[in-house]
Amino acid sequence: EGPLPRTGGEPCCFTELHVHLDGAIRPETILHFGKKRGIPLPGSTVDDLLKYVSYKTPVTLTQFLEKFNHYMPAIAGDREAVRRIAYELVESKAKEGIIYMEVRYSPHLLANSKVEPIPWGHQEGDLTPDEVVSLVNQGLQDGERDFRIKVRSILCCMRHMPSWSPEVVELCKKYRNSSVVAIDLAGDESLKVDASSEHTKAYEEAERCGIHRTVHAGEAGPAAMIKEAVYLLKAERIGHGYHVLEDPELYKELLRTKMHFEVCPWSSYLTGACLPDFRKHPVAQFRKDQANYSISTDDPLIFNSTIDKDYSIAKEYMGFTEEEFKRVNINAAQSSFLPEKEKQELLNTLYEAYGMVPSTS
Ligand SMILES: *[C@@H]1O[C@H](CO)[C@@H](O)[C@H](O)[C@H]1NC(C)=O
Ligand SMILES: *[C@@H]1O[C@H](CO)[C@@H](O)[C@H](O)[C@H]1NC(C)=O
Ligand SMILES: *[C@@H]1O[C@H](CO)[C@@H](O)[C@H](O)[C@H]1NC(C)=O
Ligand SMILES: [Zn+2]
Repeated sequence: EGPLPRTGGEPCCFTELHVHLDGAIRPETILHFGKKRGIPLPGSTVDDLLKYVSYKTPVTLTQFLEKFNHYMPAIAGDREAVRRIAYELVESKAKEGIIYMEVRYSPHLLANSKVEPIPWGHQEGDLTPDEVVSLVNQGLQDGERDFRIKVRSILCCMRHMPSWSPEVVELCKKYRNSSVVAIDLAGDESLKVDASSEHTKAYEEAERCGIHRTVHAGEAGPAAMIKEAVYLLKAERIGHGYHVLEDPELYKELLRTKMHFEVCPWSSYLTGACLPDFRKHPVAQFRKDQANYSISTDDPLIFNSTIDKDYSIAKEYMGFTEEEFKRVNINAAQSSFLPEKEKQELLNTLYEAYGMVPSTS
């Protein structure tokens, strides 16, 4: 028996807001497409491959990013692969008891055409970022239908590639009625954003068009990156945000404005974003302060995890109770990027599953 609330014996019903499609691929699927496309991989069995791709003690950012280089060439640029990884992620998450998920990815990193530089080197082809989004949408929508959960997507800008950002926001606009709900900024936090950056312009355009906004900030980087995300990029949610605690003024202000933090405990340990002692983890502080936050896996392939792992850590080392997990999931649903009516439906489903009085608002 895991730590999760249960309905009819099965873990249910959770909301996950921070999971990367390209960090959540099945090893079997990587092997399949590597073989099919003749692309060399560091292993030919699931166990061999996982030795290179996943890990269980903290590594540096460079070492973490290298994990993607091992397997992304087998997936990126292949239409069937892109559609299938989206579909399979919905299936996996439905099994974990997730009923609503927001999955994010960089369309450029899954493409192999009209992308400068071609991210995975050797393979040039004709799959554009635009078609990637369309294929992911199809995979997600097929998954929603077959596994009966709700899924939306978030398109990522990459800090080191400001030249991609104008297209990212245009794709958010183009596909806003078919799965895409928001824009994100991911990648190396040592790269700051300034007012004239393409990232800033893309976020301004997103705000102007009513596209929701989240930003990876204060994960490995300092609290100043969270300031940048909130005040310059007008982020409505913060990916991770642990280092907000280093700036008590800012933290107080973000508690006041109920800023939502998408926290990923196991990820934060493995990326070295937080000190290894979970009892002193920022989430413990967020909980104490009744902050607005949710719990997610981030990159379940690389961290060899399911949502149960993150909840187990919160329970075992931070004393989380089932009541707290319910509260976390309700905050996640309230902070989701769904339109108001669908948000209310999701909340009602949760209230019912948790045996709580439905909200009348
Ligand atoms: C998306 O849907 C909204 C309302 O449902 C509608 O007003 C808008 O025109 C649609 N946008 C696109 C790009 O189809
Ligand atoms: C991944 O996690 C599973 C289940 O927790 C475990 O049995 C397996 O040994 C792990 N694999 C690796 C490569 O760490
Ligand atoms: C979290 O943010 C959502 C959306 O703004 C809000 O509805 C909810 O009340 C907030 N939760 C907390 C605990 O502040
Ligand atoms: Zn992330």
